[in-house]
Amino acid sequence: MCGIVGYIGGRDAAPLLLEGLQRLEYRGYDSAGIAVHGSGTGRAAGLRTVKAKGRVRELEARLPERFAGTTGIAHTRWATHGAPSDENAHPHRDSGGRVAVVHNGIVDNAEELRARLTAEGVEFASETDTEVLAHLVGRSQAPTLEERIREALRHIEGTYGIAVLHADFPDRIVVARNGSPVVLGIGEHEMFVASDVAALVSHTRQVVTLDDGEMATVKAGDYRTCTTEGSRTSAVPTTVEWEAQSYDMGGHDTYMHKEISEQPDAVDRVLRGRIDDRFATVRLDGLNLDAREARGVRRVKILGCGSAYHAGLIGAQLIEELARVPADAEPASEFRYRNPVVDPDTLYIAVSQSGETYDTLAAVQELRRKGARVLGVVNVVGSAIARETDGGVYVHAGPEVCVVSTKCFTNTAVAFALLALHLGRIRDLSVADGRRIIAGLRRLPGQIAEILEREEEIAKLAAEYADARSMMFVGRVRGYPVAREASLKLKEVSYIHAEAYPASELKHGPLALIEPAVPTVAVLPEDELLEKNRATLEEVRARGGRILAVAHSEQEKADRTIVVPRNEVELDPILMGVPLQLLAYRTALALGRDIDKPRNLAKSVTVE
Ligand code: F6R
Repeated sequence: MCGIVGYIGGRDAAPLLLEGLQRLEYRGYDSAGIAVHGSGTGRAAGLRTVKAKGRVRELEARLPERFAGTTGIAHTRWATHGAPSDENAHPHRDSGGRVAVVHNGIVDNAEELRARLTAEGVEFASETDTEVLAHLVGRSQAPTLEERIREALRHIEGTYGIAVLHADFPDRIVVARNGSPVVLGIGEHEMFVASDVAALVSHTRQVVTLDDGEMATVKAGDYRTCTTEGSRTSAVPTTVEWEAQSYDMGGHDTYMHKEISEQPDAVDRVLRGRIDDRFATVRLDGLNLDAREARGVRRVKILGCGSAYHAGLIGAQLIEELARVPADAEPASEFRYRNPVVDPDTLYIAVSQSGETYDTLAAVQELRRKGARVLGVVNVVGSAIARETDGGVYVHAGPEVCVVSTKCFTNTAVAFALLALHLGRIRDLSVADGRRIIAGLRRLPGQIAEILEREEEIAKLAAEYADARSMMFVGRVRGYPVAREASLKLKEVSYIHAEAYPASELKHGPLALIEPAVPTVAVLPEDELLEKNRATLEEVRARGGRILAVAHSEQEKADRTIVVPRNEVELDPILMGVPLQLLAYRTALALGRDIDKPRNLAKSVTVE
């Protein structure tokens, strides 16, 4: 959510910053802006900014021909305070025009600071919370830029990842982090700063990730980190796991399509090196939970948001089924606000693709504060949630750029299957059942590939259903989390209204909505509930509803069926989600939607 990139070195900054912004656009795309220390003379000298409402291409079109300078910062925005507009785009300047600030996060006490500064005669140029920061830095008389920023930050309540330029200190960019990611990229006599490695990985894979409460001074040839109180910290560079090409579209028309297509490889990756055939169990080295501790777990509580929460619903079912430990999932955003009872015998698991979602991170922090043991099921290595948890499982889906989650959802569900198997084999799951699940997991990549080969068939169905006014997604028990995720996917990318219900709940009210313009998608694993599900299809048909079934064989009570390969029933939710990702994708395509950047959304929701 919002993207920051900065460059300092020997090359012209603007083209590098624009390239970085394009790679970050998935984090926010309602306006963009850039500031450089101009290296020309006259009007081309000093701190120069250009901002534009809209996509990065609008900004690019607006840049003057001569916008030379080898130090700069840039931002792509997802509006929180103040509507998308040229004025509200970052960077923000102080009244004297000597400071430029880009900011991710939210200044909670912005109103109060704005009132105070206005009373002191400061004129504001935007409606944003960020602008107070620019004025606070601009008003400080401290001898160094670092001290000026420190002084400003002392007034700030809220979250931030910031990058600051100052006309009086043209040899540096200063960045600071509290709740919003900041990484430094180390090049050859040049440095990058960014909110996400995606922006810099085509230039360097050597990075330093700042901790919360840390800041850094970045110069062309070196960098120095310290706390926001000023004490030195030791920054250890790491190598980004993924090649630059992993962030490219790789011949697909959209990232969503690319990421759906990558699932056979991604699932293979999350399984690789983790299965122990001898004991029919799995090795999860990062878990930090020994067998005795695992046996002591009385309950599992899974927390996440959106698709991560839905993957958590699948995870909870798998843990109950395979390990026979009571487990449930709850939106992290709700959990953290309801003053939850934290139980010492409960194992808490935070789920997140980005590892940065603020609501999930805040839930983790609250739990840790109350002494709970919290594990993470996370995609981005070294992300805030990965670092705040006591251990966990990386889902190894690779970079997910499309705003809507697909491959990461699937890989997270597979990671939960591994965790459930691990807990199950420590408790009462038999070797035979362990082997059965392992064999099923190993079949998944090939079976997902089989489903993907049927894209054209699914495209025809999508064309048939694209005229729907609304769609109902239903499933019982194993099918229900799949229905929820499929409904979210469809509404996010196609903007068709969709609802998900347990199939058994239809008759308690939602049946009133059924009519030909409101088709029903039914998720039908071949388990003990299949007959009951068929009865639900009958009820829908009797009300004139059209039905699309996802099942292991043609369903005569449905108008159409997407047939998916058979696996173990426990793993059905993982497979059955895949054709419905394609259905959402192809429906959005048929309707001409902006698939990778759905309206009003952004990847990684780092605000409350
Ligand atoms: C939906 C989607 C979102 C995210 C949610 C949590 O397609 O992508 O619902 O799943 O914002 O994000 P992470 O997993 O990064 O915590």
